[in-house]
Amino acid sequence: MRKTLLVANWKMNLNVSQASLLLHRLQERTRIHRSIEVVLAPTMLALQPLSLQIDRRKFRLAAQNAYYKDEGAFTGEVSFSMLRDLVHYSLVGHSERRAHFHEDLPMVRDKVQAAVRNGIVPILCVGETHQERKEGFTKRVLHDQLTTALANLTAREVAEIVIAYEPVWAIGVGDPAKPAQIQEAISYVRYQVAHLYGEKVAREVRILYGASVEPEFVAGILSLDGVDGLLVGGASLNPYKFADIIEAAHRLQVSIGDES
Ligand code: PGA
Repeated sequence: MRKTLLVANWKMNLNVSQASLLLHRLQERTRIHRSIEVVLAPTMLALQPLSLQIDRRKFRLAAQNAYYKDEGAFTGEVSFSMLRDLVHYSLVGHSERRAHFHEDLPMVRDKVQAAVRNGIVPILCVGETHQERKEGFTKRVLHDQLTTALANLTAREVAEIVIAYEPVWAIGVGDPAKPAQIQEAISYVRYQVAHLYGEKVAREVRILYGASVEPEFVAGILSLDGVDGLLVGGASLNPYKFADIIEAAHRLQVSIGDES
């Protein structure tokens, strides 16, 4: 059985002491579930202190971003190699990085490769803007983002990464994409992986949905075929809500008899 993967993206919120307090509150409110993996992506600055505080039976850490070179004259950047022993995962190519920091397709590809090279599992974010969906380009955008980002990986490496489908138009608005839209996009992502790397890799790669996930949407989205987990932004900053999201995922597993 594939574990359900829940990822909290705290974005550029919470200083170190606030992040530590949120972790404390989450640890109080969550139980250990062997069939659910929960990953927290705080600001870079909080990774080190949180790594000392975290209950590793409950949570793992992720970076929100890093640079693709391992070291050198790149003032202000942090490399994946510097994060090696600190995080299991890193978001790569989040739409906010693509939009505000001009991360283009080759840069996202190089970051995915750098993460893998350093033993960090990339959570590759893909998704179309409102305009792109309106013009009927959703599949083309997903196709281009995936084919470029995965280009330098072996099939074995692709099987181990995580892909998050995040429709840009649904991020931070409180209203997720419709189940049929999520289903269609995620099936397409898996189909593309199968096309490029074979059926076995497509069965193994984990694919998440992200954008406006709230506790009440969890069961509906996670019951969709091929959805392996959720990437949560706003709601993950609230310990009650994020704990509810974890519990809702657990209840779903129990109800379908999938809990180990
Ligand atoms: P949201 O953010 O849950 O606040 O929509 C999701 C994300 O950007 O990863």
